[in-house]
Amino acid sequence: MSDQPTSPRHVAIIMDGNGRWAKKRLLPRMAGHKKGVDTAKQVAYAALDLGVEVLTLYAFSTENWARPEEEVSGLMGLLKIFIQRDVRELSERGVRLKVIGNWRALAPDLVVLIEDALTQTAGNTASTLVIALNYGSQAEITASVRRLAEQVKAGALKPDAITADHIAQGLETADLPPLDLLIRTSGEVRLSNFLLWQAAYAEMLFVETLWPDFGKAELAAALDGFGERERRYGGL
Ligand code: IPE
Ligand code: IPE
Ligand code: MG
Repeated sequence: MSDQPTSPRHVAIIMDGNGRWAKKRLLPRMAGHKKGVDTAKQVAYAALDLGVEVLTLYAFSTENWARPEEEVSGLMGLLKIFIQRDVRELSERGVRLKVIGNWRALAPDLVVLIEDALTQTAGNTASTLVIALNYGSQAEITASVRRLAEQVKAGALKPDAITADHIAQGLETADLPPLDLLIRTSGEVRLSNFLLWQAAYAEMLFVETLWPDFGKAELAAALDGFGERERRYGGL
């Protein structure tokens, strides 16, 4: 439809398939995660070049703690490198960092690195890179509802007055444009507790490509495909 924007302002990606990428090459899973970090960086640059305002990447879920301790610590090490090295570079291109999820519960040295990166990039305006770290959508919605319950308890809000907007305003994405396009790589067709509320009217794209093999061409194709879609929001 001509009155709809043809390019998405906010794109989110469930970066999946690192382990299978490594397995196919008879490499340890960490080799896949390492390549996955390179891909994340390349895709962040590609999104910037292609005019995406906000790119949200799912890096570590609240459920990923269930993985072997060796893999968890390996992933945390890679995150550290990404925040230290890659975010600094991205910042030179005007990218602002935002982190969602319970990242303050991570190791103190990682928390400090994140705080520094947030401060350093806060004034950047070219685009926003959102990293979902120790993120779970149900926990995010629960926290929002809990704050509303506190307001009700304090007599500042009536239960009947609660709207969907109240809940949305309490989510960590409240300051971002609505999610337009959600991509998941590796052929899995599920959301795995990612942006459940925000995805209400997002267009979805599930691709077979394993995350380490994803790149600018595929992102560009996804953006083109988005432009072809007709979003009806329940109307005609
Ligand atoms: C995604 O790749 C990265 C994270 C969840 C951190 P996986 O590690 O889930 O890769 P597969 O699904 O085992 O192939
Ligand atoms: C989702 O991938 C989490 C991230 C990409 C960070 P998973 O590989 O953890 O999801 P499941 O376990 O297949 O649902
Ligand atoms: Mg996976």
